[in-house]
Formats: sequence, C-alpha cells, structure tokens
Amino acid sequence: MNNKLRVGLVYGGKSGEHDVSLQTALAVIQALDFEKYEIKPFYITKYGDWVSGKAIRERIENKEQLLLQQEVTVENSRPSSVQALTPLFRTALEDQAGESAIDVMFPLLHGTFGEDGTIQGLFEMADIPYVGAGVLASAVGMDKVMMKKLFAEAGIAQCMYRYFTRYQWKQDASYYITEIEVTLGYPCFVKPANLGSSVGISKAGNREELIAAIEEALRFDRKVIVEEMVDGREIEVAVLGNDEPLASVPGEIVASNDFYDYRAKYVDGKSALVIPAEMPDAQKEEVRELALRAYAAIDGSGLSRVDFFLEKHNGQFLINEINTMPGFTPISMYPMLWQESGKSYQELLDDLIRFARERYNDKQQNQYVFDV
Ligand SMILES: Nc1ncnc2c1ncn2[C@@H]1O[C@H](COP(=O)(O)OP(=O)(O)O)[C@@H](O)[C@H]1O
Ligand SMILES: [Mg+2]
Repeated sequence: MNNKLRVGLVYGGKSGEHDVSLQTALAVIQALDFEKYEIKPFYITKYGDWVSGKAIRERIENKEQLLLQQEVTVENSRPSSVQALTPLFRTALEDQAGESAIDVMFPLLHGTFGEDGTIQGLFEMADIPYVGAGVLASAVGMDKVMMKKLFAEAGIAQCMYRYFTRYQWKQDASYYITEIEVTLGYPCFVKPANLGSSVGISKAGNREELIAAIEEALRFDRKVIVEEMVDGREIEVAVLGNDEPLASVPGEIVASNDFYDYRAKYVDGKSALVIPAEMPDAQKEEVRELALRAYAAIDGSGLSRVDFFLEKHNGQFLINEINTMPGFTPISMYPMLWQESGKSYQELLDDLIRFARERYNDKQQNQYVFDV
C-alpha cells in the first residue's frame, strides 16, 4: 500500500468522440503528478466493452498504450452490458477486501453514456466519488430543451425556440411547421435535443429544408428543438467548482464554416479560439456572471463550459448551451480559458479531483434512513 490517490481514468467509449477521448486521456496522464496519483485505466472500446488495465505509475508517451486488450475470460462470453459493468463493480468490491481500488473516478467521455448522467449514475450506484457534474446536472446539460427551461426560470436571456417529439411530429407535422414559420421564421436551426458535437444539426432556409432537417434530427433523437437563428459572436466561459464556483475569462470561437458544425469542430481545425475574447471589461463581467447563474440553474458541480451568443445588433448575450463535459485536451477551450485565468492544466486536474471528493464527502452527511 502507498498513500497515493488512486484515480480511475475512464476513456474511449462507444461514441464518435472515441479518439478525442483517447487524446484527452493521454494528455491527462502526462499532466498528472505521479507523486500524488496512481492511475487505474478503464478503456471502453468502440463496441462499448469495458477493459481495465494495470495501474499506471509513470508517464506514458503514446495513446496506443491506452488501447487495452480484452483478456479472454469466462466473463467475456457474457452479453456486453453485463461485461461492461463487471470491472467497475469488481473494483468496488476489491475495496472492501482492503485491496488496491479506486479513490475517485475520472470519466473522460463525451456525449451519450458519457456526460448524460448514465455513467454518473453507475458511479453513484458503485458508491465511488467521480469528477464532474452529478446525475441531474449531467442529464439536464445534455438535453437542450430541459436546460432552456431552467435558464428561462433563472431569467437568463435566450433565443426563441419550439420543440416536439417524433410522435408529435408524425401526428401533426403541419401544425409544427406553421408554428415554426410564424414564431421563428427562416433561417432557423434544427437540432436533436440530446446530442453534441453538432451531429444532426442543420440550418434551414425554407420549408423544404426545414422538413428535411427535422427528419434528419429525428434520426438521432426522439425529441427535436428548432431555434430562431441568432446573428452573434460565440462567447464561452469556463466554470469550475461546487458550492462556490469560479468563472474564467471569456473566450471567443471564430468558426471556419458557416456555423460551428462538426467539420469546423473536428475536421478542418481552422476555427480560431480567441482568448480572452475582445470586449469591454463590463461585458466580460456580465457574461461571467451569467455563466455562474446558468451553472447554478442546472445545479452544476465540478466543471462546465457555458456557451453564449453576443448579438451583433444590440450587444446582448443570449445563452446557447451548457456543456458539463467540455473538450478537455490541453488545447481545448476549457483548459485554455483557465490557463489564461492563471490556472495550469495540472492545477486544473488537481482541483477537479479535489472537488469530486469534496462533493462525495458532502453527500455523506445526508441521512438516508429515517428512524422513528
Ligand atoms: N440558434 C442559433 N443561431 C445561430 N447559430 C447557431 C444556433 N444554434 C446553433 N448554432 C451554431 O451551431 C453550433 C452548434 O450548435 P450547438 O447548439 O452548440 O450544438 P452542440 O451541442 O452540438 O455544440 C453553434 O456553435 C453555432 O455555431
Ligand atoms: Mg455547442
């Protein structure tokens, strides 16, 4: 036994962002202080299988080392959902036997199953502290309709929108088309309610494009949101912490394409990050304040990146969305905003791990049984 903190790093995943996650995991391992931490890797394959590996006690140099091979055991012949869970729960059980286990889980996954509250629920069930937002905030942060309802309740300005389910669309498409045309007009943005990375998002300039865009979005989710188009700069703020979160300086994204779509984000790499964003100090303060309010509105903890539009015609901020598991490579917006605000990548990791444990300890104060 040693007194290093054992961090379970979960990466890969059954998602379009599998490779981004591997890059992030490598960067995190390279930045973590091995005097303080020992890493237990959990690799989720593209098929969704979990593979755990030997503890990592020193820096590794390339991401191929993270592609853990599946051991051939009897367990492997089980259906993959069961397979996925066994390494995690085995780890939890090992703890009871006093063996080396995990002090804190650090999920580096994006999108469905990674930041939508499901893996967070798994950690709750396994009773292990974990980095990032809890179940509720993660789920809300994934659902563009639910987050908008909470932002509205918190009095944060946002664009106009309409939403409906696949079932409702099938029942009465013409009703929703009229609604959209009357209230939002063209062009408008059509999005699956629960997805990220701009997947399934399109801009529609007329009725024909609107219908095609809705059909496309409905392939990815049972719920679709349609928004009026905002003509604005894209401004983002990083938030970090639990009960007393801090907001970073704001940054700006200047997209290489017509909008910040999947290509602009991941393929051509030409979109520029401007950090800090150029704007008067009063505006910087205003958007940081709004970011903290949005964070509180979803009951955020750990971290989030809050994205805004700064409207060109009147200089007003409209909130676009909150991301509870923002891009986290060292050159992603979130860590860069903290870098500019005086916090290094390594310090950021220390903080996130500390906040995970603090939240867990805080929760231990809850009484679960009511004795009469
Ligand atoms: N209502 C809108 N008006 C103008 N541009 C938008 C609007 N909604 C989205 N966009 C553009 O599309 C991009 C992706 O949309 P977003 O809602 O942030 O989805 P994701 O969760 O995939 O990041 C934004 O960064 C922005 O460039
Ligand atoms: Mg976005």
